[in-house]
Amino acid sequence: MTLRSRPTVTYEAPPNIALVKYWGVRDRALGLPYNSSFSVTLNRLRSRTRVRFDPDLDDDRVILNGAPATAGPRDGIVRFLDRVRDLAGTEDRAEVRSANNFPTASGLASSASGFAALAGAATRAAGLSLTDRALSSLARFGSGSACRSVFGGFVEWRAGHRSDGRDCYARPVYAPDHWPELVDLVLLVRKAPVKEVRSADAMQSSVRTSGCFAERQREVPRRLRRIRAAIGARRADRLFPAIMEECDSFREVCETTRPALDYLTATSRAILDEVRNGNRRAGTPIAGYTHDAGAHVHVFTLPRPLAPLRARLGALDGVERTLVVRPGPGGRTVASSRPVPQATGRDGRTRAGAVPGRSSRSGR
Ligand code: PMV
Repeated sequence: MTLRSRPTVTYEAPPNIALVKYWGVRDRALGLPYNSSFSVTLNRLRSRTRVRFDPDLDDDRVILNGAPATAGPRDGIVRFLDRVRDLAGTEDRAEVRSANNFPTASGLASSASGFAALAGAATRAAGLSLTDRALSSLARFGSGSACRSVFGGFVEWRAGHRSDGRDCYARPVYAPDHWPELVDLVLLVRKAPVKEVRSADAMQSSVRTSGCFAERQREVPRRLRRIRAAIGARRADRLFPAIMEECDSFREVCETTRPALDYLTATSRAILDEVRNGNRRAGTPIAGYTHDAGAHVHVFTLPRPLAPLRARLGALDGVERTLVVRPGPGGRTVASSRPVPQATGRDGRTRAGAVPGRSSRSGR
């Protein structure tokens, strides 16, 4: 079928940083993770994606940051568009233009913001009106962590237990303005290696080969509860040690994977050491680090220690740039050539009816 109504839609989505990491799926086809994860959606940074379905196109056209996408990145986007086409009942090809306002190769979670933005733009351009929860559940098929970028603030992605995945979804827990003092000092390190293995494959290799994976699974639920409670009570002294413990557990799983996954550079490790030493010197946790499957480091702190911390960490050999970001809003439509239909129905059933979910718009 050809889409009769073909709006051009632009959707913007931010990256997120996981304080409790998603690492390993129990069902690859349905994108169901082993453990629940918890993240902060970041302000200032974003992917902006414009999509238009066009019956006259012979093939999908994908432009990323001004250049035609090729190989892996293009294949991932085309596979995602196929899912949207299935839901919308169309075979029309699409033109996709996407750009980030931060360095893409920097490993700053561009797949999370990128696939959340693609999900938002492509579904709306295809005439689908998904609830945010359904949109989020769809986004995770592009990249697991993308499901959290649809929402703002502090977001939990519940792993669920069911084999059909109906209890697996992301939801906002605290709004972006819940804790305005909390800052994320992002340290971009020089010579951050480009990932050799995609996260989606690397994590499955950890599931199969890391002797620490099972123990991590036992610990994560308790740590997630601690982190969620510390954020709820705005207790930095509880939050910072807990996120470092979680990050260390994630890194231990990576390092015990065979072949080992080593994402950090000497500079990244020096940052982690300096945060630990700084806390020791202060006699109280004034900061907490975390990192994803990449070399850059996020250091959470409060306004008072921020300036000296930024000066100290920014001066470490190999730190290229520091950015200060905060919890921010989730994804949103920024332009549409025609009004975008709003999702309706209290049960959250979408018009396509194929993605489970309930309407949920808090955290904006
Ligand atoms: O979303 P993916 O498939 O790129 O995997 C992300 C994995 C981590 O960033 C390491 C953790 C997370 O929960 O974001």
